[in-house]
Amino acid sequence: MFPGTTLDSLGPGVLATDGLPPPEIPCPIVFARQILPNTTRVTAPSIRAWAELLLQASDPMLSGDPPWRLHVWPRYGAAKAGQQRCDWITESLRDLLGRHHRQRRRRLETADTPFGPDHALIQLMLTAPDQGFLSLAPAPVPFQRRHVLAAFPAGELPVAVDKAAPSRAFAKLLEAERRLGVGIEAGESCVDLGASPGSWSYVAVRRGASVQSVDRSPLRADLMSHPRLRFQAGDAFTFRPSAPVDWLICDVIAAPERSMDLLRRWLDAGWCRKFVVTVKFKGSADYPLLDPLKAFLPTACSDFRLTRLCANHNEACVAGVAAAPFTQAG
Ligand SMILES: C[S@@+](CC[C@H](N)C(=O)[O-])C[C@H]1O[C@@H](n2cnc3c(N)ncnc32)[C@H](O)[C@@H]1O
Repeated sequence: MFPGTTLDSLGPGVLATDGLPPPEIPCPIVFARQILPNTTRVTAPSIRAWAELLLQASDPMLSGDPPWRLHVWPRYGAAKAGQQRCDWITESLRDLLGRHHRQRRRRLETADTPFGPDHALIQLMLTAPDQGFLSLAPAPVPFQRRHVLAAFPAGELPVAVDKAAPSRAFAKLLEAERRLGVGIEAGESCVDLGASPGSWSYVAVRRGASVQSVDRSPLRADLMSHPRLRFQAGDAFTFRPSAPVDWLICDVIAAPERSMDLLRRWLDAGWCRKFVVTVKFKGSADYPLLDPLKAFLPTACSDFRLTRLCANHNEACVAGVAAAPFTQAG
């Protein structure tokens, strides 16, 4: 989906292009954990040589000293030793920059917040201690391609753990928020569809939001009596909010087409400003089923992510911010 470039799989979940995606294509969607735009195969015999290679290769792209990020990660057998090597390469590059390019070193960010229009991104994926793939994405490519270019090395995020949550499902909501770079905040309103036993509602009320939770089964007792939670026993698909809400969060178990239709209905009606919706596959993951979303999301949203989360099993997640102004609920 990057016309004019060749797309290559570098292993599970990682795709590389040999050039930069043309800017006139607003949102090419590729289902991968991470994309490496403008990639070349590289080799270097030592940590210092890797740092020098990075310094040299990135020089033209960073000459105006834009804010930039660096992801160096291993994709070979010894994960721990590989990570150590990657950290040393990063350190060695910082050291070189400190001597020759102080301003450039200051502009290197360690944050993993969403890319802004000024950000450049350098990725180095090591496939062996002395071999790898180097990707150079000048601004505004990381921002333009933020739907598919993760702000996390290799696109991986550790699955969150909270033993006090009613179920492990809460990790999905946290990861979706981080990927989107927008989260539920105090004072916001949420509708949680398919809410039981209540992990997503638990996240929302703990943030200080108010939640209307809808399910056929009740939530955990402490949530049912929470002052900012209202429970409604009923069908997620016929539920209508009495007024637009800040968030639709929906983890209902249903056929993928039904969950996608539900999201579309909510967005068309202007019932939510932001959303996180799980699309569950039946049997094997059937990604072409998501095609209607790929067509619909770029027009309906000012920002969105459509991905399989690290915390997802046989399902995908769509999270986004509606493009249309808030309207009154019908
Ligand atoms: C995976 S669980 C949700 C877990 C929840 N997000 C949490 O964090 O605890 C799916 C829920 O969808 C509910 N569900 C399935 N079909 C539904 C429907 N038509 N209306 C309302 N709830 C439904 C099920 O009762 C179940 O509780």
